[in-house]
Amino acid sequence: MALVSMKEMLAKANEGHYAVGNFDVFNIEMVTGVIDAAEETRSPIILAFGGEFEKLADIGDIGAYIRSAAGRASVPVTLHLDHATEFSLVMRALKAGFTSVMVDASFKSLEDNIATTQEIVKICREYGVSVEAELGHVGGLGFYDEDQDTECYTVVEEAARFVKETGIDALAVAIGTVHGVYKREPKLNINRLHELKEALQMPLVLHGGSGLSDEDLTRCVANGINKINIFTDLTLAAMDQMKADADTGLNYLGKCTNVRDAVHKVARDRMQVLRSAGKA
Ligand code: 13P
Repeated sequence: MALVSMKEMLAKANEGHYAVGNFDVFNIEMVTGVIDAAEETRSPIILAFGGEFEKLADIGDIGAYIRSAAGRASVPVTLHLDHATEFSLVMRALKAGFTSVMVDASFKSLEDNIATTQEIVKICREYGVSVEAELGHVGGLGFYDEDQDTECYTVVEEAARFVKETGIDALAVAIGTVHGVYKREPKLNINRLHELKEALQMPLVLHGGSGLSDEDLTRCVANGINKINIFTDLTLAAMDQMKADADTGLNYLGKCTNVRDAVHKVARDRMQVLRSAGKA
């Protein structure tokens, strides 16, 4: 199946009241593990690559690999650039055939976030590529401190203006999640999420989806989240598997294959909780 745009994938999720898993991946084990899980559960998926991953893999090379794997897959796949804070990275993703981009100017003032996002929307439209942007602050990327999260929730009136002036396809909201491993039990502001969905009536995105309970994820989906970003949970499963296999005498190929299968299991579980299973 050919790659699909995020806009098209999330419009269906919005209509059907489920969320698509956005899995951040940077190597063959992660890409194939997630695709295997999507095939098994018949889920649409978003495979995302972040600028930080360029330390390991060239965006053009991994983009070509994912495009080829998506072409063989029997489920819809979106190839997404996560957290672009630089224009040059967006251009590299567009040239590599990504079908979706997240511009992250959430650390800027509202005015500057709008202006930066408008610029990215304009260029992405020329390529027929969907755009996600963020308003408010999801912690864990160094922009803000998790202990001050109440200051950082997305404000409904600002979100309405932001969406109207930028024309984005999906909005990442801040309701108390953080990237990485939670230092304390997450407390989500579901009420704010509900208000945002009522006001915006569009696909909403939740970053920091790892480490949330099934109940929290289910409440987020029930209140309007249509895309949930998961990275840390995949990496923890991969590293646990590597530790378990460390002294087994298994060769490197065997260990990497087991990592793929560990990623598959976590991704499969999340697809079921997000209710994307059976929607491909
Ligand atoms: P986690 O660190 O919770 O997996 O979040 C990933 C994410 O939101 C990437 O954009």
